[in-house]
Amino acid sequence: MKITVVGAGAVGATCADNIARASLCTDLVLLDIKEGLSEGKAQDMMQSAALLGFETRVTGSTKDYEKTAGSSVVVVTSGIPRKPGMTREELIGTNAGIVKDVVSNILKHSPDAIFIIISNPMDTMTYLALTSSGIAKNRIIGMGGTLDSSRFRYQLSTHLQCSPADLNAVVVGGHGDTTMIPLIRMATWNSVPVTNFLSEEKQKQIVSDTMVGGATLTKLIGTSAWYAPGAAGAALVKSIVRDEKKLYTCSVMLDGEYGQKDICIGVPVIIGKNGWEKILDFNLNEEEKQSFEKSAAAVRAMNDVLKTL
Ligand code: 2OP
Repeated sequence: MKITVVGAGAVGATCADNIARASLCTDLVLLDIKEGLSEGKAQDMMQSAALLGFETRVTGSTKDYEKTAGSSVVVVTSGIPRKPGMTREELIGTNAGIVKDVVSNILKHSPDAIFIIISNPMDTMTYLALTSSGIAKNRIIGMGGTLDSSRFRYQLSTHLQCSPADLNAVVVGGHGDTTMIPLIRMATWNSVPVTNFLSEEKQKQIVSDTMVGGATLTKLIGTSAWYAPGAAGAALVKSIVRDEKKLYTCSVMLDGEYGQKDICIGVPVIIGKNGWEKILDFNLNEEEKQSFEKSAAAVRAMNDVLKTL
């Protein structure tokens, strides 16, 4: 089995490294437009294979999509980050062109690939990947909620002083500082609602710290985070290639679910060998429904920018 990761920057390389370490496939191609970058990072990863004992063969490719031929799963991380003085429309303009191009080039050589979209603005890039390619909707998965839910579990674990692995907690809605919705009412610690252990004030703090999780790291590191985003991409790859049927929140095309249509936004889905296989209805209460509607309106406004390009 072959997997491709497009974009050999920090997120793409970390995702590839996680995939290789778990030996999730026989061949892993890392593709980038920058001459030598993917080849160098692929060799660096391969030079850890003897130490780590993984079996995946990682190779790099500078712009040569033929090397990605026959990929079952493709992770798209390419694009530019927003720089000071740049409008959001400009960012979408550049990344939209890149993502559209990547998806179309991949499909020429891997017509059956399942895509995981990480490029930002993630919900809009997922929507674009789907609408521009016309492939089945279950084959396009936006990663955002998977990462945001892991960040939510981390925030909860620091306050509860417990293992993040013992927590069940999901974030739905858009992958943005103001659009994501950490569902604290439904979060549990080994089946017991976390709200039993946290004051209202603490709950509010955890929710707001989760929402700005990415921005906090960008401020600390000076650039966008990569360990958790890369791990989130690899977790989705694992659920697909091993047909785990795990529940993650991902940005997928809605057709009436959660009261929305013609939009990709984060909802709980089952991830298996067919991509996203089922959307689960979490029965949001009135307040959560309102937040979801607001979040969808913001994502839709961003999608509308695509029409102006
Ligand atoms: C983040 O939130 C990269 O969008 C990603 O860190």
